[in-house]
Amino acid sequence: MRVDREVPDFDRPSLMFRLEDVLKYRLLGERYYGRAVERLDLRGDEMVLDLGCGGGASSRCILRRLGDEGRLICLDTSGNLLGRARRRLAGARNVEFVGEDIRDAGLAEGSVDAVLVFHVIHDIPSRDRGPVALAIGRVMAPGGRLVVVEPTRASHGMSPEEVRHLLSEAGLTEEMSDSSGHHYVGLYRK
Ligand SMILES: C[S@@+](CC[C@H](N)C(=O)[O-])C[C@H]1O[C@@H](n2cnc3c(N)ncnc32)[C@H](O)[C@@H]1O
Repeated sequence: MRVDREVPDFDRPSLMFRLEDVLKYRLLGERYYGRAVERLDLRGDEMVLDLGCGGGASSRCILRRLGDEGRLICLDTSGNLLGRARRRLAGARNVEFVGEDIRDAGLAEGSVDAVLVFHVIHDIPSRDRGPVALAIGRVMAPGGRLVVVEPTRASHGMSPEEVRHLLSEAGLTEEMSDSSGHHYVGLYRK
């Protein structure tokens, strides 16, 4: 597993982060993640990747939209947060938990139909963002969809232009975007 000092320490999440995580998981899940997950337009039988799934609140929203034929990969470099996701989603049969960086995860090229990246890229050191984006593009199937949501505040976030550049270099085409309200939301297709 890669470790970098620029990355917030998600293996020792702050009290505020943990409180927010519980709130999002127990109360606000659909309200917070539902619109982004809806944009993936899932039929229910896809292979879906929740990249940087954290404690699994967004993953639960994805699982609600998957049938028995669908599969979800919850991928996160934080053992602490992935452990939460694993405990919370323990009853689900069609979930796999991967505690690796996408670059090291060994996912087959073209194997993923839909990807959710929710508040993740801005927390990756600048020099690693391009390689991570390339790895995302590589695992996506032709025609696959990706929804990315990133904060855009100067104090905490990244610019929509940088997200666009990274994903375009990874071979993805932006089909829709919304940059209102200090967030960038983008729907991409490979
Ligand atoms: C701000 S949290 C967001 C978690 C979750 N997506 C949510 O919305 O609650 C960022 C997450 O990205 C994960 N992360 C950061 N870099 C990563 C990488 N290269 N591969 C996988 N996960 C990563 C962190 O461990 C952390 O769980």
